[in-house]
Amino acid sequence: MKGLGCLMGSSLGYPGRMIRPVTFYLVVFFMVSSMGYPSRRSAMDLDATPRMTIAYNDLSSVRCFGSHAQNYTTLLLEDEKGILYVGARGAIFSLNATNIADGFHQTMDWKASPEKRAECLKKGKNNKTECYNHVRLLQRLNATHLYACGTYAFHPLCTYIDTNKLMPPSVFEEGKEKCPYDPSRGYTGLIVDGSLYTATRYEFRSQPDIRRSLYQRILKTEESPLHWLNDAEFVASVLVRESMSSLVGDDDKIYYFFTERAGEESTSIFDKNQLPRVARVARVCKNDLGGKKILQRKWTSFMKARLACYIPYYEVLKDVYSLDGGNWHSTVFYATFTLSAQWRSMEVSAICRYNISEVQAAFEGTYMEYQDSSRKWSQYNGEIPEPRPGSCITDRARKSGYNSSQDLPNSVLDFIKLHPLMYEEVKPADGDPLLVKKNIIYTQIAIDRVRALDGQEYDVLFLGTGNGWIHKAVIVGSTVHIIEELQVFRVAQPVENLIISKQQKSLYVGSQSGVLQLPLATCERYISCFDCILARDPYCGWDGVSCRELAGILDRTLLSQDVLHGNMGCWNDSTQATSTQKNRTVLRGDDVLLPCEQASNLAQATWLVNGTEVLAEDGQGRFHLGVDGLLVTDTQLEFSGEYQCYAKENGLQALVATYALTVLPEQLVPQFLPTVPQPSWHAASYAYGDMKFIYIAVITVLGGLCLVLSVVLLYVSCLQKRRGKYSLGVPQTSSVELQTVSSNCIGKGGQEDEDLDTYPDGCLQIIPGEATTVTSPLKEVPPVPPPPPPPLPAEFTNGISTLPNMLRKMNGNSYMLLRQNEEPCTSPLYNSFTEELSKILEKRKHTQLVEKLDESSV
Ligand SMILES: *[C@@H]1O[C@H](CO)[C@@H](O)[C@H](O)[C@H]1NC(C)=O
Ligand SMILES: *[C@@H]1O[C@H](CO)[C@@H](O)[C@H](O)[C@H]1NC(C)=O
Ligand SMILES: *[C@@H]1O[C@H](CO)[C@@H](O)[C@H](O)[C@H]1NC(C)=O
Ligand SMILES: *[C@@H]1O[C@H](CO)[C@@H](O)[C@H](O)[C@H]1NC(C)=O
Ligand SMILES: *[C@@H]1O[C@H](CO)[C@@H](O)[C@H](O)[C@H]1NC(C)=O
Ligand SMILES: *[C@@H]1O[C@H](CO)[C@@H](O)[C@H](O)[C@H]1NC(C)=O
Ligand SMILES: *[C@@H]1O[C@H](CO)[C@@H](O)[C@H](O)[C@H]1NC(C)=O
Repeated sequence: MKGLGCLMGSSLGYPGRMIRPVTFYLVVFFMVSSMGYPSRRSAMDLDATPRMTIAYNDLSSVRCFGSHAQNYTTLLLEDEKGILYVGARGAIFSLNATNIADGFHQTMDWKASPEKRAECLKKGKNNKTECYNHVRLLQRLNATHLYACGTYAFHPLCTYIDTNKLMPPSVFEEGKEKCPYDPSRGYTGLIVDGSLYTATRYEFRSQPDIRRSLYQRILKTEESPLHWLNDAEFVASVLVRESMSSLVGDDDKIYYFFTERAGEESTSIFDKNQLPRVARVARVCKNDLGGKKILQRKWTSFMKARLACYIPYYEVLKDVYSLDGGNWHSTVFYATFTLSAQWRSMEVSAICRYNISEVQAAFEGTYMEYQDSSRKWSQYNGEIPEPRPGSCITDRARKSGYNSSQDLPNSVLDFIKLHPLMYEEVKPADGDPLLVKKNIIYTQIAIDRVRALDGQEYDVLFLGTGNGWIHKAVIVGSTVHIIEELQVFRVAQPVENLIISKQQKSLYVGSQSGVLQLPLATCERYISCFDCILARDPYCGWDGVSCRELAGILDRTLLSQDVLHGNMGCWNDSTQATSTQKNRTVLRGDDVLLPCEQASNLAQATWLVNGTEVLAEDGQGRFHLGVDGLLVTDTQLEFSGEYQCYAKENGLQALVATYALTVLPEQLVPQFLPTVPQPSWHAASYAYGDMKFIYIAVITVLGGLCLVLSVVLLYVSCLQKRRGKYSLGVPQTSSVELQTVSSNCIGKGGQEDEDLDTYPDGCLQIIPGEATTVTSPLKEVPPVPPPPPPPLPAEFTNGISTLPNMLRKMNGNSYMLLRQNEEPCTSPLYNSFTEELSKILEKRKHTQLVEKLDESSV
């Protein structure tokens, strides 16, 4: 089913949930502008197109581990030891990180007992998903043991696992304070210096909570008179060792990332019962011991602040990844967001980066306070007791005699109880998101910091999507270049965990059906210097012969790479594309399509005829530039000549294909036609006596039909947009189209396959001839790797816009098809409409802001 891009797309949930870009930008602009969020770049500026699309069947060097179990969602990598632990449903596995599929894994079965399953069913839980033991926590406890927790059919249990044996343990601990009952509930857990820090909503009815258990004194969040957490859904927790070389004797902190209901929002825009959800960052101090009388067994260091990305009040956190580069001061948090549930019909993801200094600044700023009288949160401007509420115990506090949180005065503890929320929100570094991507849900993020050839370090993002793709992107300055998108699962399913191993140079992907291991870099995918440079992949460089991974090369003097701009290091060398020239012969008046597949989604095709560039508007309408080739209609004798296709990208251009087109006068027809067995034609010609006349008539019909066909094909290809193969080049799709041709056009069925390549007539040659060419582009067009480009709105060249007019002259079906699908098939008209709209919206945004100012000054 490789070729059925459209069908594949819909089975992946694309077109159904896709909303028109115009609507998207309209809504986003509305949201952003109505909230007055000061973003300087528009949604369109922040979007990026993956340069290459690699479909499942074109993936190489992927290793897969799967067993009898399901839900391989909990991963623990011990990179030094080369072991990947996997927590699944009913089992824990220990895999060799070098090759997870080597068959030498260890398994520890840990299933819920039949009694507990029966109890779970009695509680009315789902026996297909919930009444199992889903392993939710796997953390290293000490040199010999792991600590693991599972939902155990809605009766959480935890246990110690000896990693030497990976044997089913005999002793279990109650897990209800450490692990959620619900396997799909947002949850995060860390073991830090022997203590377990977990955050989730543990039971269905209970409030969400951040807890510490195991080794140290148990601590929780406060619930009265204010809930410190309000329907929170946790996604991640991060330890930051802030005590290291701290000048003020600070403590280590654990940061929590979650989405919760925004109690602080005035209810003017929002229904009281429908408080908007906002993203938050909260933190606690590692050595917090709780208060003595007030806040006994509660955190005395809990503080939380808003995390703003792009669309305030409408965004939900999906995942957070932290990077510190060896020094906690340079810690950055990368977070992925999607739109909240009320915008389900619209898929959009945003990625923001936050510096720890900005998070700290928010926690050191002013507090919010809840006013009982007005039932509103507002900025607190009163006096703040000493030591500063919510801060860790520092040298300064110790000097004043406060050696631990238990020594804190009541005034401070009372203040903490009522002021968990900070007034300042944490804004993304540089003020803007790095990326705003529509029609994609990024569920997971993992980042590798890579030193490139230029000596600079670049952050390479690996993003897992909700339907089983991985996007690999590099951050250059404050923009994101998506190097490639990989379809890593045949059956669409969310990416549930991502882990990077520097040691193994691998990315591990956890999912419902198994664990995958992918190489961080696949440089050999780039088969020309241009390709290698344009990819801007910090792992890869061109050594004059091939694209290679930098890591394995000692002498780097001859390498070229250009992550920063993506266009330096190769000469403008058309000889490197020594693609064999292909011959095309057609009859005068016929149409011919000269295919030219672009490996890169960012490349644009340029055609030269006899050395002169074909312009989209050549005034005659004979040449039609498509994303995948050049359509020449109504050929005349003088159209013969050399046709060259170049790929233009980022200021570079490379030759992709060369054709020698020969147009023959109609007189030659009889020489060709008899080579085609065509009984019905013979009968017809005897009946009329004048064969030549009939041939001309038939060829005219053929020409007409071919025109329809090529237009439909071009159009279908255009529909495919993203994902999957481009129909023109794919045998399955074109053979479907072929049947139409052969029955109407040639009037014979079985022969077509054999005669396709040899038959010199223009009609058939258009489609099947190219189908065979394009299915094996590697063999015939060396500089272009196989994955075909999913057409994108911006890449539709003007030639296509003329097609609808032509089609209207043709038969009704084609016309209908075109009309039905006019929307997704974007044309320049459409683009300019989009631009027009955003201009209007931009204008409106400014006027709204002005109006708001006016209101407030009244
Ligand atoms: C993993 O496999 C590699 C090669 O197969 C082997 O050298 C290594 O010892 C294995 N590691 C573990 C932890 O078993
Ligand atoms: C789950 O429940 C359904 C309906 O109650 C039942 O048919 C099915 O056998 C049960 N499955 C398991 C695994 O218990
Ligand atoms: C690790 O913890 C387990 C469980 O508490 C204990 O049995 C074991 O002795 C500990 N190992 C070491 C090396 O401390
Ligand atoms: C476990 O996997 C199954 C599909 O294999 C899926 O339907 C279910 O939702 C998953 N459960 C969780 C908790 O992720
Ligand atoms: C704090 O510790 C110092 C030195 O360790 C000690 O002198 C002082 O009494 C302690 N203060 C309290 C309130 O425990
Ligand atoms: C490559 O070709 C482009 C367009 O022909 C030209 O603008 C550019 O200067 C050339 N670059 C080099 C390095 O020759
Ligand atoms: C290309 O050049 C050939 C030979 O010079 C000429 O016959 C032909 O008409 C030219 N084709 C076009 C499209 O200009």
